[in-house]
Amino acid sequence: MGSCLRRLVIFSTSVIVIGISGALAKAPLVDQAFDQWVAKQTQMAEERMRRNISASGTATGSVIASPSRKDPNYYFHWIRDSALVMNSVQDLHHKSLGQKRVQYFQLLNDFALFSRQNQLTKTSAGLGDPRFNVDGSADYEPWGRPQYDGPALRALTLSRLAQDLLRVGNSSYVTTNLYRPELPATTVIKTDLEFIAHNWRRKSIDPWEEIMGQHFFVRGTQLAALTEGAELATQMNDTGAAGFYRAQATMLEAELAKHWSEQRGWYLTTLESEAGPDHRKPSELDVSVVLAALAANASSGVLWLLDPRMLSTATAIENVFARIYAINRQGGAGNAIGRYEEDYYYGGNPWFLTTAAYAELHYRVAIALSRLTSYKVTPRSREFFASTLPQSEQGRVESGTDIAADAALRARLVASLKEKGDGFLRRIRLHSNSDGSFTEQFHRDTGTQISAVDLTWSYANFIRAAHFRELVPTR
Ligand code: NOJ
Ligand code: NOJ
Repeated sequence: MGSCLRRLVIFSTSVIVIGISGALAKAPLVDQAFDQWVAKQTQMAEERMRRNISASGTATGSVIASPSRKDPNYYFHWIRDSALVMNSVQDLHHKSLGQKRVQYFQLLNDFALFSRQNQLTKTSAGLGDPRFNVDGSADYEPWGRPQYDGPALRALTLSRLAQDLLRVGNSSYVTTNLYRPELPATTVIKTDLEFIAHNWRRKSIDPWEEIMGQHFFVRGTQLAALTEGAELATQMNDTGAAGFYRAQATMLEAELAKHWSEQRGWYLTTLESEAGPDHRKPSELDVSVVLAALAANASSGVLWLLDPRMLSTATAIENVFARIYAINRQGGAGNAIGRYEEDYYYGGNPWFLTTAAYAELHYRVAIALSRLTSYKVTPRSREFFASTLPQSEQGRVESGTDIAADAALRARLVASLKEKGDGFLRRIRLHSNSDGSFTEQFHRDTGTQISAVDLTWSYANFIRAAHFRELVPTR
């Protein structure tokens, strides 16, 4: 009750602040307190993420999804979670110098070696096994198997590490530990790429571990892995393999495009769904579609963030959560974002990692827009851009408007996209603890943190959002 009241007070003050800034100035006021919070929270997230990597009592290189051992038990090395977490570590590695870079490299090296051990460990679903025990042994608990996004995300993270090392001339590390052309594969990336290239047509369980089918997220991450993998293969003089991966990627992208529903205006998250009665998803609208585009780094095609179909999907998802979560009707911050409307896991709530992902989405669209010289709004993408502007300005963005060709309009939108992105981080701040800890979810009516404590993926996504926030150009 006490904390509820406190929250209401915070809400009303932020509403006033927003009201004043909207009336006074077109350019957003610089909110130093918020900038400082982002900086401090990023640092705390980094420390907390770090504690879950090679945590005491676990194998070196493993990443626990959360220290929580019951309700829920997340004390495992999940392939998906760990790959996405280490992708954030790779971002940090990429932009660091000196001692810091060495420390991040050490973590990545440990992860690469542990991952290779995972590949060589016999499991019930082969490379599609979703998780390992923290000592690196196989997990034989009944679980949703196989999950094919794992090898894709792992290959992506490690390919980016490999590129980073090749850039500074460290090809011997890459050849020894990450990618060698020989077959059967003997290195971690090559093993994953071969697996993906030969198995992408198969069905698997979705990233939320609930449904067997053909999933946009799984296919999207596989496409990204094959695309970036082909580039790496080329650099490693594995030309035949590069062509093979590219050919598979082309066919896979054609399958991915089939998820688009012109009638509904979004990518259907699962085709050929075998969902049981517990997990039916009539909307087929799921944030994992947006997560796939964020995991990829495409500048064209189905996974391009600025593709109108992707933006239309993102808008539809936000609108659902704006409508169904009580906390979103109180205003004062951007919308809390969950997984999908029908979700009931722990009550079906917003998640930190998805809300942070929406901040990242808006920052990255802003960055991309700032680099384009032409980009025309379509009926599908109009709402995404217009929704960043106050009502009085929305007329500036109509279908057909070239929002990159007009420098003033482009600058205006880069700023408003950043502001809207900040709204999602403000939402997180509203429900965060002063020690910087995040669980998995926060309650849809009260905002209280629930489910797994210290979820590593929550921290990784916050760090990523903050990383892209810094890259948004300010005039
Ligand atoms: C159902 C949840 O929705 C899913 O995300 C979770 O991984 C599994 N149960 C296992 O706990
Ligand atoms: C449940 C999530 O649905 C799944 O994606 C994740 O891998 C596990 N929790 C562990 O964090």
